[in-house]
Amino acid sequence: MNRFDLDALTWDDLPRRVNLAKAVVKNILPHLKGDERVLEFGCGTGLIGLNIAPFVKEVIGIDISEKMVEKFNEKAKRFHLNAKAYKKDIFEIDEKFDIVISSMTIHHIKNIKALSKKLKEITNKVFIADLDKEDGSFHTRGNDDVCHFGFSKEELKEYFDDWKMEYKIIHKVKKHKDFDVFLIILTNNPAT
Ligand SMILES: C[S@@+](CC[C@H](N)C(=O)[O-])C[C@H]1O[C@@H](n2cnc3c(N)ncnc32)[C@H](O)[C@@H]1O
Repeated sequence: MNRFDLDALTWDDLPRRVNLAKAVVKNILPHLKGDERVLEFGCGTGLIGLNIAPFVKEVIGIDISEKMVEKFNEKAKRFHLNAKAYKKDIFEIDEKFDIVISSMTIHHIKNIKALSKKLKEITNKVFIADLDKEDGSFHTRGNDDVCHFGFSKEELKEYFDDWKMEYKIIHKVKKHKDFDVFLIILTNNPAT
C-alpha cells in the first residue's frame, strides 16, 4: 500500500486541494469542444477529471494507487458520470486520446523527458498543472516519493521542447507560505 492509498479516503476533505482542482478545471474548460475522449493520469479521487466529465464525451482516469481508483469510480457511479478509472501507470498507456490532462502528479514522476515522449505517442494536446519551483518544503510529511521540487518555466520548456507550450500561473496554494501552481498547455508541433 502506498502513501496515496492511505490518503485516498480523506483526500477530498482538504479545501486547499479542492480549490486547486477548481482552478485547474476552470482553466481547462474554455479549451474543450465537448466531443473529446480525455485521459487523466494521476487522476486521484477525480477532483479534476470528474468535474471535466460533464463537458466531454468521456474521461478515463488512471492512477497507480488502487484506493484512489476505487474512490474515483465510486464517485463517478454515484453522480452518473461518463468516467471510469483504472489502476495503471502512465507509461503503460498505448491507446490514443484527444486530450490528456494531469494535476499535481508530474513532480512524482522521475523521467519527464520520457513522459513527454510517451504523451506524444498518445495525444496531440496536453494540459498539465503542477507546482512552480519550490524549496522542498511543500510536502510537509516528507519528500520520499517526490522526484522534483516543482518546475521552473525554463525547465518545462526544456523537458517539453518538442511541443508548442503555453504557460501560466493559475493558482496559489496557501500553506506555511504561498506556492504557485502553473498550467501548461502542450500542442503537438507538426514540425517536430
Ligand atoms: C498529488 S496526487 C494528485 C491527485 C489528483 N490529480 C488531484 O489533484 O487531486 C498524485 C497522484 O498521482 C499518482 N501517480 C504518481 N505517479 C503516477 C504514474 N506514473 N502514473 C499514474 N499515476 C501516478 C499517485 O498515485 C497520486 O494519486
